[in-house]
Amino acid sequence: MAASEQDGNLAGTGPDAGMDTFDGANPREHFASRLGFILISAGCAIGLGNVWRFPYITGQYGGAAFILLYLVFLVILGLPVMIMEFAVGRGSQRSAALAFNILQPSGKWGWFSWWGYVGCMMLMMFYTTVCGWMLAYVAKMGTGAFNGLDAEGVGAVFGAMLANPSELVGWMLAVIVIGLAVCSLGVQRGVERITKVMMVALLVVMAALVVRSVTLPGAAEGLAFYLVPDFGALFDNGLGGFGEAVYAAMGQAFFTLSLGISAMEVFGSRIGRKRSLTGEAVRICALDTAVAIIAGLIIFPACFAFAVAPDQGPSLVFVTLPNVFNQMPLGQLWGALFFVFMSFAALSTIIAVFENLITFTMEKWDLSRRSALIRTGVLVTVLSLPCALGFNVLAGVTVPGIGDIQSIEDFIVSNNLLPLGSLLYVLFCVTRGGWGWKGFLAEADAGQGMRFPRWARGWLTFGLPALIVIIFIMGYVPKIAFWLGVG
Ligand code: PHE
Repeated sequence: MAASEQDGNLAGTGPDAGMDTFDGANPREHFASRLGFILISAGCAIGLGNVWRFPYITGQYGGAAFILLYLVFLVILGLPVMIMEFAVGRGSQRSAALAFNILQPSGKWGWFSWWGYVGCMMLMMFYTTVCGWMLAYVAKMGTGAFNGLDAEGVGAVFGAMLANPSELVGWMLAVIVIGLAVCSLGVQRGVERITKVMMVALLVVMAALVVRSVTLPGAAEGLAFYLVPDFGALFDNGLGGFGEAVYAAMGQAFFTLSLGISAMEVFGSRIGRKRSLTGEAVRICALDTAVAIIAGLIIFPACFAFAVAPDQGPSLVFVTLPNVFNQMPLGQLWGALFFVFMSFAALSTIIAVFENLITFTMEKWDLSRRSALIRTGVLVTVLSLPCALGFNVLAGVTVPGIGDIQSIEDFIVSNNLLPLGSLLYVLFCVTRGGWGWKGFLAEADAGQGMRFPRWARGWLTFGLPALIVIIFIMGYVPKIAFWLGVG
C-alpha cells in the first residue's frame, strides 16, 4: 500500500523532509508545516457545527449558561478523544483503514476501521446539501433576492429553494466538485494550501462581521443574552429541561470537534513527532471554540438589534438572518459576506472529510489517489441525492420522532456514530485488549510541548465511558417514549 501514494512530496524528500519519517517502507506525504496541520484540523472541526448548529442550539437552550455546559464537555470529553484520534493516526502513520490492525496486530479491532468510513460518508450525505444552501445564499444575497422582503417573504424563498430538486441538487453538485477539485491537487498542494487560505480569509471576514454586529444600536441586549448566564434557562427551555440541555451540549462537543468517526485520525497520520499531541489538540479546540463563540457574537446582537427572535432552531441562519440583513444599512453586502463566511467554514470541512475518505480508499483497496478520488466522488454524489431530494421528491420519507431524510442521517451520525465511536476510541486507547494506555501515552507525549495529564487515566478508563453510555441512553429515552406512544 505504500506505493499507492503516488503524488506529491513524500516524507523524507519533500519540504517536510525535516519533520519526521515513520519508516522507509511508508513514504507518506506529510503536511508541509505545523501551521498547515493545525489549520487543516481546525478546518475540519470548524464547520456547520460552529456557524449554524452552535448558534441555534445556544439560542434554543437559553444562551450563556448553555455555553458553559458545552465548554465543560469540550474539555472533559472532546479534548481527550481528539488527542486519542491523533495518537492513533500518528502512531500508525495510516488512515483508519489500517491503523487499528497496525497498533493492535491481533486483528480484533480491524472491523472498527469501517466505523470511520461509514460515519464520514454518512456525514457527507447531508453535509453536501446544507453546504450547498450556503453557496446558494451567497448568490441570493449577492443578487438581492431578499431585498424588501418581510419575514414571511424570506421564509418563502427558503421554502421555494427546498421544494426545487434541481436547485438543491445543482448546489450540492457544486460543493462536491469544489471538494474533489481541491483534493485532486494532492495533500500539500491542494488540501493544505487551499484550506490555509480559506481559514485565514474566514478569520478576516469574521472580524469584519463581528465589528458590524456589536456596534449596531441595540446590540447590548443580545450580548447580554449571549454572555450573561441565566442558569434557569438551562432547566426551563421548553425542550425537555436540563437532561436535554446536557444531551445537546455533549452531542455538540463531539460534532464540532469532528470526533468518533476517524475524521481527525487521518491528520495525525500526516505529521511527525516534533510536537506532543496534547498541545496541538488544545490549539485546535481553542480555534474551533473561538469560531463558534464569534459566530454567536455576530448573530445574537444583530437579532436583538432588529427584534428578531433568536430561538428559531435550524432556520435561524436561513430565515431569521436575511431579515436582519434586510433592515441593516448595506445589508446586502453584509449578508453576502456572512454567507461567504458560512461557506468557507463548511467547505473546509467538506475538503477535509473528502481527503479522509480518499486516503482511506487508497489504503484499504491499494489504489492510486486518482482512482480513489473517482470512486469517492461517485459514491458521495449518489449517496448525497436522498438528502437533497428528501425536501421535495422524497418528502414523504420520514421516521416518526426523527423527521425527514436529512434528520434521519443527522440522527444516525450525531446521536449514534459520533458518541459511540468516541467511546470505542477511548476503549482502544485505555484497555489492554486494544492499543493500551502505555502505547497511547507514549505516542501522545512524543515531541515537545504539553504532556498528557497522568491523573486523567482514571477518568478516561471509568468516568468518561460511563458518562458517554449514560448520556447516550438518555438521548434515546424521549425517542423510545415517543415511539411507544407514552411521550
Ligand atoms: N466538525 C464539523 C462541523 O462542525 C462536522 C464534522 C463532524 C466533521 C464529524 C467531521 C466529522 O461542522
